[in-house]
Order: sequence, then structure tokens, then C-alpha cells
Amino acid sequence: MKITLSILPVVFILLIVASFSLKVAAQSEGDKSETKAVIEERSELMRSIRDTFRPIRPMLMAGAFEIIIVKSRELANLAQEIMPAFSKKALSNKSRAKDEIWKNRSQFTQKAKKLAAAIAELEQAAKTSDTEKTGGRIAGVLAACKNCHRSFRKPKTKGEDKYQG
Ligand code: HEC
Repeated sequence: MKITLSILPVVFILLIVASFSLKVAAQSEGDKSETKAVIEERSELMRSIRDTFRPIRPMLMAGAFEIIIVKSRELANLAQEIMPAFSKKALSNKSRAKDEIWKNRSQFTQKAKKLAAAIAELEQAAKTSDTEKTGGRIAGVLAACKNCHRSFRKPKTKGEDKYQG
């Protein structure tokens, strides 16, 4: 009986330690799945941006300025989501986002603003139905995509979609 009693506190402590480690493990699992969700969401945003932007040049070739105006507005709305999508720091080896996005916030913001400005200029040009001018502005938007990617996105790994903007 005496032995059993002296063991009790030890068992008690062990139970506390075990339940604590379970909690910590659950917490880090939760963090992991949250990180994954954040990364997936911003990936999806970038892909929507690409899918909205990509058909604009063929539209220009077809002289479809009215549609370009509509698409520019859609693109502008999506571009507004960039800063919120990158507000929470989330890095993983599956993501190509660089740590600099959060370290050099003002530069990242600057580049998001440049994209917004380039999209607004595209819309203005499309309103004039000027093919050459609109073509130049499409190039301007693409330059703004690349400008941000160059600083804030890690280089491609093999086998990825070639069209990355
Ligand atoms: C302000 C910065 C910024 C701008 C502007 C920007 N991007 Fe991105 N983009 C990123 C970052 C950072 C990533 C990497 C995200 C990741 O891997 O977690 C990315 C990823 C992508 C991806 C890959 C998505 C995936 O995971 O499959 C595509 C496609 C893309 N961008 C297209 C574009 C296009 C097209 C434009 C311009 C119309 C653009 N981006 C403008 C920062 C930017």
C-alpha cells in the first residue's frame, strides 16, 4: 500500500506531461494546416490573376476593346486582394514566396501598387480603342507582374507551368 501511494504523484506528473505534449502536438498540427490554407488561397488568387490577364492579348488581336475594359476591372479587383492574401506570414518548401515579403513590406506594397496602376492605365488605353497603345499597356502589366516576382518569388523548380507571368 505504501509503495502504491508513493508512486501516485509520479503517475500524476506523467499524466500532466503527456496531456501537455498532446496539446502542443495538436497546436502545431493546427498551425501547419492553417499555413497550408493560407498558401493555397494566395496561390489560387495568383492563378485567377493569371487566367484573367492571359486572354487579354488575344482579345486585343480580335479588337475586342469592350471586353478588355471589363477584364481590366476584374483584374483590378483581383489585384486588390494581393496585400490581404500576403498579410499573414506563411512559408513552406511548397511555396515560392520569399521571406522578404514580410521583411521588406514597403517594397512589396510598392510593387502591388505598381500593378494596380498598370492595370488602371490598361483600362484607360482600352477606352481609346487604340491598338498600339493598349498593346503597350498590356506589356506594362506583365512588366509589373515580373517586377514583383523577380524580388519576391523564389526561382522555379522543374516541371512547373511555364506561363507564370
Ligand atoms: C506584389 C507582388 C506580386 C505581383 C504584382 C504579382 N505577383 Fe504573382 N506571385 C507573387 C508571389 C510572391 C508568388 C509566389 C506565391 C507562393 O508560391 O506562395 C506569386 C505566384 C504567382 C503564380 C503561381 C501561382 C501558383 O502557386 O500556382 C502565378 C501564376 C502568378 N503569380 C501570376 C501573376 C501575374 C500574371 C501577375 C500580374 C498580372 C502577378 N502574378 C503579379 C507576387 C506577385
